[in-house]
Amino acid sequence: KDKGRDCMSTKDEVLKYLQNHQQYVSGEELSEQLLVSRTAIWKNINTLRSSGYEIESVTNRGYRLVFSPNTISPEIILSGLKTKAMGKNVFCFDSIDSTNAQAKRQALAGASNGSLFIAEQQTGGKGRLGRVWASPSGTGLWFSVLLRPDSLPVQVTNITLLAGLAVCLSIRKLTKAPAMIKWPNDIVIGGKKVCGILTEMAAEIDRIEYVVVGIGINVNTENFPEELSVKATSLRVECGKPVARVELLQEILSEFERILSDYTDRPEAIFAEYKTLCVSLNRTVGFVRNKEPLTATAVDISPAGELVVRCGNGSLISINSGEVTV
Ligand code: BTN
Repeated sequence: KDKGRDCMSTKDEVLKYLQNHQQYVSGEELSEQLLVSRTAIWKNINTLRSSGYEIESVTNRGYRLVFSPNTISPEIILSGLKTKAMGKNVFCFDSIDSTNAQAKRQALAGASNGSLFIAEQQTGGKGRLGRVWASPSGTGLWFSVLLRPDSLPVQVTNITLLAGLAVCLSIRKLTKAPAMIKWPNDIVIGGKKVCGILTEMAAEIDRIEYVVVGIGINVNTENFPEELSVKATSLRVECGKPVARVELLQEILSEFERILSDYTDRPEAIFAEYKTLCVSLNRTVGFVRNKEPLTATAVDISPAGELVVRCGNGSLISINSGEVTV
């Protein structure tokens, strides 16, 4: 069943300890702190080395972590993950059709609330409105979080906005890039899209079975195909240097968990935070209503997560789906 739960092994604990200390740590200290034998420490150091970690060992000083590989694995994700539940059950794939599709399959097989599905590459990445989401290997973060309704304090429509807020805040915190949210949940930098979110759910008339929040971030992409480069960018392009994918992922999971929980107690405060980062507000936006293209000024976000716009004749209308252009 949920294999992810067994992932915090001695190896992960050794890794975490070395990561937290950044200097020489003796085998004795590791053995005392982690309550395992010196031989077990030595074996686990070697296992870490064989999965690409460079760990220096100096007589009388001990071990020091020199280099962590740029790979995504359960142990790397779990070491340093500060959440209560989100991402604690993690399923990593080298290549998969779509992490959203995989999350849905495993949801049916009983995967727990907060399970994380992440892939180096997606061969059938899905975007909103039936579009394709390019998900090449190695440079992006393509992942889905499974949420179970019992633990959902929020209306489903707003979950997707809250996920956007979590990504936007995390990017700003870790990269200082001036990321903004384009309603409902594209993350843009300087008008170009860096992240998209696709939320899917399975529900009966009166009961939600599960919600899958799929997040795609162009992290270290250096070049985009011409047709994409006018509207897409990456964190690397915007920051001029590579960004650590796993740290960003960990930050997003923490922020998303915090925001979902804060939202129960103080939805207004979370909405206020969303609004300060929403680039669509106070702008003229284009949208389609009854098949007719219209423009109006975006003035607010309603408590239900809709974009409230003021039309030329002064009337207010709420938009709850479809394409909005800033
Ligand atoms: C959009 O159109 O803006 C939404 C893009 C969502 C892409 C992510 S990548 C991880 C997850 N798996 C998918 O197939 N899609 C989402």
